[in-house]
Amino acid sequence: MKTIGVLTSGGDAPGMNACIRSIVKTALHYNIKVIGINDGYKGLVENRMQELDYESVNNIIQFGGTVLGTARCAQFLTKEGRRAAYEHCNASNIDALILIGGDGTFAGGFEFWEEFQIPVIGVPATIDNDISGTDHTIGYDTCLNTVIEAIDKIRDTATSHHRIFFIEVMGRNAGFIALNAALASGAENVLIPEEQTNVEALAKQIVAQNKGQRSSIIIVAEGDDGGGAVEIMNKIQPFLPRYELRHSVLGHIQRGGKPSAFDRILATRMGALSVELLLKGEKNLKIGSKGEELIAISLVKDSTISAELDLEKLNLLKKLQTK
Ligand code: F6P
Repeated sequence: MKTIGVLTSGGDAPGMNACIRSIVKTALHYNIKVIGINDGYKGLVENRMQELDYESVNNIIQFGGTVLGTARCAQFLTKEGRRAAYEHCNASNIDALILIGGDGTFAGGFEFWEEFQIPVIGVPATIDNDISGTDHTIGYDTCLNTVIEAIDKIRDTATSHHRIFFIEVMGRNAGFIALNAALASGAENVLIPEEQTNVEALAKQIVAQNKGQRSSIIIVAEGDDGGGAVEIMNKIQPFLPRYELRHSVLGHIQRGGKPSAFDRILATRMGALSVELLLKGEKNLKIGSKGEELIAISLVKDSTISAELDLEKLNLLKKLQTK
C-alpha cells in the first residue's frame, strides 16, 4: 500500500473536511501518499485529481462542505465510465480508495472492486443518518443542531402570533432528522416516512393540544407519505378553519455550516481508521459507530438496505405531548 485515493461523493456533509484532513495526516504518518480526487467519481472518470500534502489539509477541520468537491455522477454508473476511472487510478498508481459518502457511494465502490479489484473502504457521511451499520453518520449531529436552532427561532413567532407551523426538514426517505429534531425542540408532532400520516387525526390532535396555547410546531420529514410541509398544510386547512397556519421549508441551510465537535471527532476517528484498515490489508468494508466504539462491516452490493429508525422515540414524543 503506497498510494491511497480519497473522494467525497453524494450530498456534502459537515465534517467531510475533518475526515479528509485525518486521512491525509494519518496516511503521511505511515509514509503513504494520498491523492485527492475532485468532485467524487466524476473526478475519477475525468482524471481530475492531485496529491494532498500535510499543509494542504491544515485549517480545514472547522469548515462545512468538502474541499474536494462532490457530485452525483451518472458516468460512473456505466461500464465505460468505470473503465476510464480504473485507467486513471492506474496512471496515478492508486492502490486503494477511501470513499466518504453514503450507501450509493459505497455500492458504486463495491462494483468497482468487483470489476477492477481496487480495494475500497467506505466512511459514512450524510446529514440523513440513513446508512445501515452505524449509529451516526458524519454531518448528522451538526445538521440536527442547525435544525433545532431554526425551530427555536420559528417557535418565537409561533407563540407570539398563536400560529400552527409546519416545518419541513431533509432526510430523503428517512425520518432521523425529523424525529430527533422534534424530540430536541419539543415539537408538538412529527410526520415521518416510517409512519403513515393521517391528516384528520393530526388536526384533532392540534385542536386538543391548543385549548390553552394556540400554537404548535409540526415537523414534516421531506419524505413523508402525506407530502411536504406545504402539501400537509393545504390538506389540513379545511379541518382547522379557525387556526392561522404557516409553513417553512428549511432546505439547504441544514447541510452547511461549521461541523459540531461531535462530527469533527467522529470524522477524525473514522478517517484515521480507514487508513489503518487498508494498512492491515483489509478491503471492502464500511466503517460505522456503535456507541463509543468504531466498527467495520462488509460492504454489500445492495445499497437499498438502510438504517432503521428507533420508533421508541416516536412513542416517547407522543407520550410527552398528551396530557
Ligand atoms: O442526502 C442529503 C440530502 O440533503 C437529502 O436530505 C436531500 O433529499 C438531498 O440530499 C437533496 O439533494 P440535492 O442537494 O442534490 O438537491
